[in-house]
Amino acid sequence: MPEEATLEDIRGFALSFSSAAKRALEAGFEIIELHFAHGYLVQSFLSPTSNQRTDHYGGSFENRIRLALEIVAAVKEVLPEDYPLFARISADDNLPNGEGWSLADSVELARRLKAAGVHLVDVSMGLISWKAKTLLGRNDSIDQVQMAATVQREAGVATGAVGGIVSARYAEKILQSGQVTLIFIGRVSLDDPHWPAHAAFELNAAAAYQLPKQYHWSIGLPNWRTNFLLNGN
Ligand SMILES: Cc1cc2nc3c(=O)[nH]c(=O)nc-3n(C[C@H](O)[C@H](O)[C@H](O)COP(=O)(O)O)c2cc1C
Repeated sequence: MPEEATLEDIRGFALSFSSAAKRALEAGFEIIELHFAHGYLVQSFLSPTSNQRTDHYGGSFENRIRLALEIVAAVKEVLPEDYPLFARISADDNLPNGEGWSLADSVELARRLKAAGVHLVDVSMGLISWKAKTLLGRNDSIDQVQMAATVQREAGVATGAVGGIVSARYAEKILQSGQVTLIFIGRVSLDDPHWPAHAAFELNAAAAYQLPKQYHWSIGLPNWRTNFLLNGN
């Protein structure tokens, strides 16, 4: 059975996030994303579906978002001011009858995250409960992109859209709409680790993507692919 975290545990959570951020910085990562989604620790505080606490970390919206904001503050302390800090949220608990955490809650949280120094909110969805609807078919993708657009428009914070983005054309259409700031890809990059290069090729922007340096001698020229394709294979 899960046990309720003590106040000492909770102080430790913020410290663990800030020491992880320090290690990421030392290791040379150029962006840090805080994971506040998918049923993990911080979302379990955010969502009224899981948060059953009766102290100042449970109950009201203000209390449920307290841990997330404390973590952001602790992490900001160890990062240079302009170091890109993202946070992934589940925009909606995705439960029947609109129960649980809602898109409106996400908009308000995103405003607070921005005020606390988060530069971009990565808008995912669900996974707090087994009762949630299945995700990431085609229509779910459209819903999820719309949620990212809503959070960007209403909270005035940059957002990233994720979920079911597979073709370069769809990715580009989302970006050209200007409704979100960037897109994330998951499964398609497992299938094709060079998806960004292939997408750039498809969108006639091959020069915009640099392949890893170690491959330049063989496929570093922007036209290597065109040459092969034009020659008929
Ligand atoms: C094998 C696999 C592992 C994943 N692990 C994580 C994870 O650790 N943290 C996370 O936030 N999302 C994780 N995801 C979800 C992806 O980040 C992404 O949100 C999701 O797959 C939807 O995007 P896609 O349709 O482009 O794959 C994982 C997805 C896959 C397929």
